[in-house]
Amino acid sequence: MGVEVRTESITKSFGSQRIWQDVSLTLPSGEVSALLGPSGTGKSVFLKSLIGLLRPERGSIYIDGTDITTCSNKELYEIRKLFGVLFQDGALFGSMNLYDNVAFPLREHTKKSESDIKKIVMEKLELTGLLGAEGKLPGEISGGMRKRAGLARALVLDPQIILVDEPDSGLDPVRTTYLSQLLIDINAQIDATILIVTHNINLARLVPDNIGMLFRRELVMFGPREVLLTSEEPVVKQFLNGRMQGPIGMSEEKDESQMAREQAMFDAGHHAGGAEEVEGIIPQMKAQPGMPVRQAVGRRRERVRQILHTLPPAAQEAIRHSMEENGDADTQVMPAYTGGYDTTVRQNLTNG
Ligand SMILES: Nc1ncnc2c1ncn2[C@@H]1O[C@H](COP(=O)(O)OP(=O)(O)O)[C@@H](O)[C@H]1O
Ligand SMILES: [Mg+2]
Repeated sequence: MGVEVRTESITKSFGSQRIWQDVSLTLPSGEVSALLGPSGTGKSVFLKSLIGLLRPERGSIYIDGTDITTCSNKELYEIRKLFGVLFQDGALFGSMNLYDNVAFPLREHTKKSESDIKKIVMEKLELTGLLGAEGKLPGEISGGMRKRAGLARALVLDPQIILVDEPDSGLDPVRTTYLSQLLIDINAQIDATILIVTHNINLARLVPDNIGMLFRRELVMFGPREVLLTSEEPVVKQFLNGRMQGPIGMSEEKDESQMAREQAMFDAGHHAGGAEEVEGIIPQMKAQPGMPVRQAVGRRRERVRQILHTLPPAAQEAIRHSMEENGDADTQVMPAYTGGYDTTVRQNLTNG
């Protein structure tokens, strides 16, 4: 099972520019989480902080219990081996074919023989649907294939934590769905802890077990997917619905007076443009038939059940609803559905 990642009140600045502050969250072991946020809110900076490429000036980051903000370089080097990272641009070497790109971490970090390396590389290329393309250069293949090659490379060291930065960037919606399915299937197969950083609303609705959102230098919320997807928080609603009306502006965050003007317009019926409002929750993507059972599902169910009473009412209702849909015992009222009930109804009908 993948390891737990926990941040405790981390704050990151570059010079006098505060990127985010007091970010505390836990990525539960082996579950898929997503961090949402408008462009420039520091999602990539957060991802890089988790692997120790950037160092927050305050707070702690525990990877499997070790605080990487205070550990030795040697420890950090070992901890980094737990990670597989798919950077936004795929970060493939342009002059190397896909085989050598995927083999690179194995040649760099292990003493495996070339025949062992070949076995692993071909397995990951098959997993990501790239068999037959191993001789191609990154420049010769589509954006979707480059993403998958980046993912194949992120998987060769059997990571327990997979970080994915904007998996949808440069991909059309269909390719994005394929990649989403691949991430869920990978989670089913290797039970790694996964964090996806994205501003893709559809992906966020469909894929993760847990969702968080960065806005105005704060983590607005983080928790089971139902919490964010049923949230009435204006910034969350605006973001999920891709609307112009709300706290998120064109380039920067809007000021109070502009928001008041827009709210007045909105109240008067002049809705600022944007996507049709989507209400409710769509069912989460499942691993494809033939995949192992995704262990995270059962673990998450137990975990969420423990914290259910602490969640907002709308989230509680959505969670109960999805548990019923999935036929989870003890949220159902089985006796009510016995034949006896049916008979009574039929009798009443006959008598009436
Ligand atoms: N290494 C760096 N040095 C200085 N500023 C940086 C560095 N990396 C990112 N930033 C700044 O941090 C802010 C957040 O960037 P980023 O994490 O890339 O946002 P996002 O991924 O959410 O779009 C941006 O203003 C960016 O310019
Ligand atoms: Mg980014």
